[in-house]
Amino acid sequence: MITTVFKLLEQYGSPLYVYRYPVLKERCQQMKGFANKLEKGLSKGIVVNMHYSTKANSNIAILSAVKEAGLNVDCMSPVELELDKRSGFTADRMLYVCNNISADEMKMVHQEGVMICLDSISQVETWGKMFPGTHIMVRINPGTMGVGHSTKVITSGKKTKFGISEENIPLLLETAEKYDLHIKGTHQHLGSLFLNDKVFDYITGVEAGLAIVGKYFKEVEIVDLGGGFGVPYRPEEKPLNLDYVAEKLLPALNRFASSYPLVREFKFEPGRYIPCESGLLLGHVTAVKHENDTYWIGTDIGMNQLVRPSMYDSYHEVEVIHQSEEAGEPVIANFCGNICESGDILAKNRSVTLPEVGDAVIVYNSGAYGFSMASNYTGRERPAEVMLYEDSSSKLIRKRESWIDLLMNMF
Ligand SMILES: Cc1ncc(COP(=O)(O)O)c(C=O)c1O
Repeated sequence: MITTVFKLLEQYGSPLYVYRYPVLKERCQQMKGFANKLEKGLSKGIVVNMHYSTKANSNIAILSAVKEAGLNVDCMSPVELELDKRSGFTADRMLYVCNNISADEMKMVHQEGVMICLDSISQVETWGKMFPGTHIMVRINPGTMGVGHSTKVITSGKKTKFGISEENIPLLLETAEKYDLHIKGTHQHLGSLFLNDKVFDYITGVEAGLAIVGKYFKEVEIVDLGGGFGVPYRPEEKPLNLDYVAEKLLPALNRFASSYPLVREFKFEPGRYIPCESGLLLGHVTAVKHENDTYWIGTDIGMNQLVRPSMYDSYHEVEVIHQSEEAGEPVIANFCGNICESGDILAKNRSVTLPEVGDAVIVYNSGAYGFSMASNYTGRERPAEVMLYEDSSSKLIRKRESWIDLLMNMF
């Protein structure tokens, strides 16, 4: 791995997103296996479809791997929809799960023939006026606490902007009727990232949502339970046991399906689970300093390249690859980037052997919400992306941005 890291950085530049294809493929297959397991345990004829959430990583190479594995997609912007199309997904394999979009954007979704999932009565009004008599899905708020690695990604309960809560469902149904809209499916998403210790909360949330669906949407055919399937970021965390999740979910899904015979499909929207662990963000040590009893390891991986640590206080494993064989002094250090913000910290209080300028840095688990949340803050180009195959060959799947890319739209 050491030579591979330096070779990749030399060949493609720094910083660099690298996705390990075998890991990506394995996670797709695991999700497919999860769907198959649920299907086998459900009453006959009910299908389970996995819609990879494009927002986690929208590179066409990632989307193509997802397609090859037989998964579907969800998208939430015109560009995500276009990327899904260019990766070979047809409208019947896509779902547009949006919030607060314009009438023009709705027209585009309608024209593309992709099923839309609307998350407020106001949006249902806008859609209904333009496209009466059509099929829609609606997003409900299950009302429970939700699950997630940060309050910023919890999407159920009283403090979220998402979905329609139970008290407003009678008005939603009236609005749908006014425009002769057929609510073909419901959607619920509790939040992003649960692991084994939160499966109980996840199931509780799923059941709360299903209870609302059963009470108000008796003719529903599709029930979408969203994403949230977590991955272990910290060394002490264990991978999510999908068999265990399926085992706990099945009684709830079967209970629901037996009372509502029109239900013919459950959908899920795994995002992070698919590309996260395949992704490594590589960079270089650019400065080392000791100030006020703290070691600071400066790198070219700023918060613009990977915003999760600054935005959510998220943990990512970071490893230094030394150029020299002579071991440095063991220290506790903070890794930081090259952006003018005190919050531009990649990792805090890590035990490392003190690196030297020019050593390489690997940030693990950066394949999801990494590049897709990257920005040009402080005028820095977003990095290149590379796919790394089992035989150690690599392929550039996105060119590094240049100054020209950043300047071309200004006059
Ligand atoms: C509606 C919806 N579906 C799916 C996802 C994917 O979530 P995750 O990456 O946690 O699986 C998200 C993430 O924010 C979402 O908002």
